Amino acid sequence: MLPFWITLAGAGLASAATKFAGVNIAGFDFGADTTGTANLASALPPLTALNGPDGGGQMAHFATNDGLNMFRLPVTWQYLINNNSTVTDTSTLDATNFGKYDMLMQSCLSTGANCILNVHNYARFNNKVIGQGGPTDAAFANLWSQLATKYANNTKVIFGVMNEPHDLPNLSTWTKTVQAAVTAIRKTGATNHMILLPGTDFSGAQTFISNGSAGNLSTVVNLDNSTTNLIFDVHKYLDSDGSGTHTDCVSNHVTDTFTPLAAFLKTAQRTAMLSETGGGNTTSCLTDLCQTLTFINANSDVFMGYAGWAAGGFDQTYALAETPIKAANGNYTDVPIVTQCIVGTRKNSTA
Ligand SMILES: *[C@@H]1O[C@H](CO)[C@@H](O)[C@H](O)[C@H]1NC(C)=O
Ligand SMILES: *[C@@H]1O[C@H](CO)[C@@H](O)[C@H](O)[C@H]1NC(C)=O
Ligand SMILES: *[C@@H]1O[C@H](CO)[C@@H](O)[C@H](O)[C@H]1NC(C)=O
Ligand SMILES: *[C@@H]1O[C@H](CO)[C@@H](O)[C@H](O)[C@H]1NC(C)=O
Ligand SMILES: *[C@@H]1O[C@H](CO)[C@@H](O)[C@H](O)[C@H]1NC(C)=O
Ligand SMILES: *[C@@H]1O[C@H](CO)[C@@H](O)[C@H](O)[C@H]1NC(C)=O
Ligand SMILES: *[C@@H]1O[C@H](CO)[C@@H](O)[C@H](O)[C@H]1NC(C)=O
Ligand SMILES: *[C@@H]1O[C@H](CO)[C@@H](O)[C@H](O)[C@H]1NC(C)=O
Ligand SMILES: *[C@@H]1O[C@H](CO)[C@@H](O)[C@H](O)[C@H]1NC(C)=O
Repeated sequence: MLPFWITLAGAGLASAATKFAGVNIAGFDFGADTTGTANLASALPPLTALNGPDGGGQMAHFATNDGLNMFRLPVTWQYLINNNSTVTDTSTLDATNFGKYDMLMQSCLSTGANCILNVHNYARFNNKVIGQGGPTDAAFANLWSQLATKYANNTKVIFGVMNEPHDLPNLSTWTKTVQAAVTAIRKTGATNHMILLPGTDFSGAQTFISNGSAGNLSTVVNLDNSTTNLIFDVHKYLDSDGSGTHTDCVSNHVTDTFTPLAAFLKTAQRTAMLSETGGGNTTSCLTDLCQTLTFINANSDVFMGYAGWAAGGFDQTYALAETPIKAANGNYTDVPIVTQCIVGTRKNSTA
């Protein structure tokens, strides 16, 4: 029989909340698709200073009024180099575009939060897989070396190596690509930053163990062969096909996904970050997502945190909007999925 406190934690009744919780602030990734192409004309910097949506004000609101402390800031590789047709082993960051992205990063950091720099390319550049017919590992390492150099002195920046790899010809080869990025980051002197390691199946939490991501990514190491601050990056949507495109949810996926994942992480003594999840403004999603995040908060020994998808450039017409609504007086009001699930499950979770 289990000691009573394990039973309680397992049921999500009593536990500390995860260290990190927050929301994705999308916009610099707009125009990207799952083939790794990017129409840069569609990128929408979520900053009023750049004549865009008020991502900075949203983050300040989330941090001040909701106690959220982590934001994920997606951007495409193409945007960072301002070239959506060509990348080489020596492509440099475009000063203007990186400068705009850095404005969002600084706006995030100014709230006191941790901020995930997320390259939103699905393991690809223009429909070709990195290290497997597309840009070389050296090209990807060069990108990360430049990015890590910019933030090497600030461990509040979390490096999200890649958004949602999928349909990889060879997962073992992809793991070498991830290792190349990690090595490049660490060599800049950014030795203590958290790095998020992305597996296949769109970083799907449900198949993380069964489809090889867990085993392969477990081999990725720091310069000293340790795995300190190397965190598995997982995503999970709760709609019928797990795509995050429907407003209704069908499961909290606690039993088939998060319980076995937590058990794996405990045994392996590793941690994971749920960097995308969400749901529509519906009874089914308010029920399921709150149950999912209650479980994640209750297992904060292995889950570092979570980020809802998404606010930033999305308006209220977006199916999974987590964008707060701005009143005439400038105050923000949260949508129910944020109030009840992203924020509420932490308030209900007491140590
Ligand atoms: C590249 O961006 C331009 C606009 O900046 C767009 O017209 C074009 O479709 C994009 N190309 C690709 C392959 O996405
Ligand atoms: C992209 O890079 C290629 C090769 O260097 C260059 O010919 C092209 O002009 C660049 N495109 C843009 C929009 O800078
Ligand atoms: C990192 O360096 C930049 C520029 O040199 C500086 O503005 C910033 O305050 C530094 N951040 C930290 C956390 O030391
Ligand atoms: C497992 O990964 C492979 C390669 O990325 C992919 O083709 C396949 O669809 C995945 N299987 C499942 C069940 O997701
Ligand atoms: C995948 O790539 C590895 C080397 O990275 C190679 O040893 C292995 O044979 C490849 N697997 C398949 C199925 O091609
Ligand atoms: C890597 O993934 C492949 C494909 O799913 C799998 O066959 C292999 O066992 C995995 N490697 C490790 C070390 O887990
Ligand atoms: C890391 O492990 C590799 C392979 O086992 C070994 O060659 C290398 O010397 C190790 N590096 C350090 C710093 O321990
Ligand atoms: C606006 O928000 C601030 C800070 O939360 C609060 O003190 C103030 O009462 C709010 N104003 C209105 C009109 O709701
Ligand atoms: C969410 O749904 C409820 C119930 O249908 C509705 O009253 C409310 O206006 C919706 N809120 C948003 C922000 O869409």
